[in-house]
Amino acid sequence: MATAFRFKRIDASTKPVINWLYEGKSLTAYEGDTVAAALLANGIDYTRTTPVNNSPRAPFCMMGTCFECLMDIDGVPNQQACQIVVAQGMVAMRMQGARNTGSNTGNE
Ligand code: FES
Repeated sequence: MATAFRFKRIDASTKPVINWLYEGKSLTAYEGDTVAAALLANGIDYTRTTPVNNSPRAPFCMMGTCFECLMDIDGVPNQQACQIVVAQGMVAMRMQGARNTGSNTGNE
């Protein structure tokens, strides 16, 4: 998926740098960046895969309406990456396939 190149970061270099982890990889963000914005700024082009065919999905609306940016953030699944600001030491993971609601009913 070629979406990352479409995003150009505005100069935020005067803001404090935040260190966080994405899929076990150390990344940086600027204070106030959302997780989705920080991922796109780091060239990460998808945040989850679909339950039907595992196709990659990326942040789309960046305003909390499309739910394409769902991620596991600090151990909590189904978080909207475009609505959560990166914090020092945060750990974010892609969501793979069907969401886990903890109910384990097999109906998802
Ligand atoms: S990008 Fe649309 S809800 Fe997050």
